Amino acid sequence: MKRARQPTIGNQSHAGYDRLAPMYRTLESILFANRLQEARVALIEALPTIESALFFGDGDGRLLNVFATRFPNCLITSVDQSRRMLDLQQKRFPDHTVTGRQTLIQANALDYHPPPGQFDLLVCSFFLDCFSESELARAIPQWLSALRPDGLLYFVDFRIPESGWRRLRGRCLSWLMHRFFRHSTGLKNRGLPDFESLFASHDLDIVADADTRCASDTGTRCAIDSMCVCRIYRMVKNETGLRP
Ligand SMILES: C[S@@+](CC[C@H](N)C(=O)[O-])C[C@H]1O[C@@H](n2cnc3c(N)ncnc32)[C@H](O)[C@@H]1O
Repeated sequence: MKRARQPTIGNQSHAGYDRLAPMYRTLESILFANRLQEARVALIEALPTIESALFFGDGDGRLLNVFATRFPNCLITSVDQSRRMLDLQQKRFPDHTVTGRQTLIQANALDYHPPPGQFDLLVCSFFLDCFSESELARAIPQWLSALRPDGLLYFVDFRIPESGWRRLRGRCLSWLMHRFFRHSTGLKNRGLPDFESLFASHDLDIVADADTRCASDTGTRCAIDSMCVCRIYRMVKNETGLRP
């Protein structure tokens, strides 16, 4: 296991996530039981073989654990601002006594410039909602530059359902979570960024969606929580940087 530490990050978000780290899983299960973890891993089996992956803001490492178990030969780089979250990731890593397979980097992702074109997969789970739309518009190209041509983005986050009682529940829980994270981590957002528009402007096509996968597999409603989205996107740029 390699640890790469960047200069100290002295912001409220960093300190807040350090404080939240030991209770993060418990707090999550009070509101959602195991449903966020179900959403996180919904499309792991749909991924092709991945040899190198870059995780951003994986928090306490529960997705990373499932992913690293599914792809035992994959080289993984994980960037998080919170040292305590990274410590949990290290503990949860399946073969955490083995060195060399995982690189943990403590850094503010907004300032992190990954090596270009090196990764098969970028993973963002409940991470992009930590940023404003203008921050994402600047950072997403910087983060996507880490992918090889045809690389994949594994995206999991919240959404507000279209209608009915689920929409009401979604709005209430979203309001509650934004208040909580504003207070505990200094989150500036008052609502969810418009992920669909952001991705649409960044040459990303959906190749798998937990909604349609579940619907076609079972013929019934989606198996993940209606407040969650789990998708795999593919970069549609080729080596020349142009859309095919
Ligand atoms: C809401 S938690 C999500 C954790 C996990 N991915 C999950 O699925 O629950 C956000 C994570 O992103 C990290 N994070 C937030 N802002 C960050 C930033 N600017 N740079 C790096 N990491 C950041 C936090 O430390 C935390 O681990």
